Amino acid sequence: MLSLVVALSAVLATGLAQTATTRFPDGFMLGAATAAYQIEGAWNEDGKGESIQDHFYHNYPLLGLNSTGDVACDSYHKYKEDVQMLKDINADVYRFSISWPRVLPTGDLDVINQAGIDYYNNLINELLANGIQPLVTMYHWDLPQALQYLGGWPNELMVDYFVEYARILFENFGDRVKWWITFNEPAVFVSWYAAIGMAPSQNASGIGDYLSTHTLLKAHARVWHLYDEQYRATQNGSVGITLNIEGLEPATNSTEDAEASDRARQFQMGIYAHPIYSAEGDYPAVVRERVDANSAAEGRPRSRLPSFTREEVDYIRGSADFIGLNHYSTDFVTSGVTGISPSKTRDSGVITSYNEAVPWGFRSLLNWIASEYPGYPIFVTENGLRNSGGRNDTDRIDYYIGFLGALLEAVNVDRVPVIGYTTWTLMDNVEWSLGTRAKFGLYEVDFSSPNLTRTPKESAGFIAEVYGSRELPQQYFR
Ligand code: BGC
Repeated sequence: MLSLVVALSAVLATGLAQTATTRFPDGFMLGAATAAYQIEGAWNEDGKGESIQDHFYHNYPLLGLNSTGDVACDSYHKYKEDVQMLKDINADVYRFSISWPRVLPTGDLDVINQAGIDYYNNLINELLANGIQPLVTMYHWDLPQALQYLGGWPNELMVDYFVEYARILFENFGDRVKWWITFNEPAVFVSWYAAIGMAPSQNASGIGDYLSTHTLLKAHARVWHLYDEQYRATQNGSVGITLNIEGLEPATNSTEDAEASDRARQFQMGIYAHPIYSAEGDYPAVVRERVDANSAAEGRPRSRLPSFTREEVDYIRGSADFIGLNHYSTDFVTSGVTGISPSKTRDSGVITSYNEAVPWGFRSLLNWIASEYPGYPIFVTENGLRNSGGRNDTDRIDYYIGFLGALLEAVNVDRVPVIGYTTWTLMDNVEWSLGTRAKFGLYEVDFSSPNLTRTPKESAGFIAEVYGSRELPQQYFR
């Protein structure tokens, strides 16, 4: 009898543990993400100004495989269909971005484009009417071209321009938008101040990227303080920044590779996260030391990575309410010097040996972030699979099974404080320089039809079930 009770309670305990692992916690937000340039189209309609993306893909068509965001998914006109799609997958949050030049065509306050403000008001109202929370990215890489003529992000004046733009957003939308992201993936967009290939293609390797980093950290902090001091009391929302990082696991179990893994993380995420989320603030010591040393060895009178004053360190530290995280796959890294001189890659002293989409890498990374920057909730703002298309996307379903399982284990077993997940992406769209050929969507978009017809893929059905039940069924845990 006793053994039966023991056996029974063991079964019950496992059952409970399983239920606890498979379910998203109460209040966990589930949804999908997009970005303005990739879906809106209407690139010059109703007073919108030119962005660096418009400028780039119009002037260097081959670098964009001859496809542009001029029309994209035409979400500017079809946003109600998009919201219906979100509803159909049982999303409770939609991450989209606002196009700065649609609101401020010159980047400055001399022209405020009411039609642009109306568009975002309509979208936000449609979302709320359908019970979907807006999560708004202020900057997903579409700087007004007028500001690029002034040098763009390496120019510290961008801080003032960005703060004024953010103020317009808080004023117009902050009564209804409670989740704000200042920047999407700084590591990626500053890299185009270091190389040719995507807008604005400024070939200033190891310099333009660090100068841009310095500017945007100040801009981010100013916007958070603006919200904190002038809007939080009445609007009651949260402001964060979205950082991208791959798994960056050591290629072998040598001490050298373990150090390389940490260095890689500090150079990719720490350079943004340490100033904002660490207890000490400022750039990570390893980044500071290596860039300073290389700059000196190159015979430069100053470091290529600018320094913050003590006041700036204190002002930036703590300037966020949550960590936005974009994660797709894991790179395996080893120690060694590669890349042109000067470059961030060379400064980091890390060589990437291969890349894989491994769910355990996601769980391991979430644990690293939680221990490196304790006390901050994490919002997974992008995660998804690229393939070459088709509605029968079982590869994408497999990817979700792995990554949502890893996420649930991180949350329910490891107690990593993740509060939301928006998959990349709602529908196939303009994948930057890969054009419309690379497919990440839950919905297929027929780019050859004048209607840009949207059709759900099998993955949309799978996600609808998971989001609707708020659970990844036990059979999917391996
Ligand atoms: C970006 C998206 C992009 C996605 C897939 C992220 O780097 O934020 O704009 O489409 O990854 O490549």
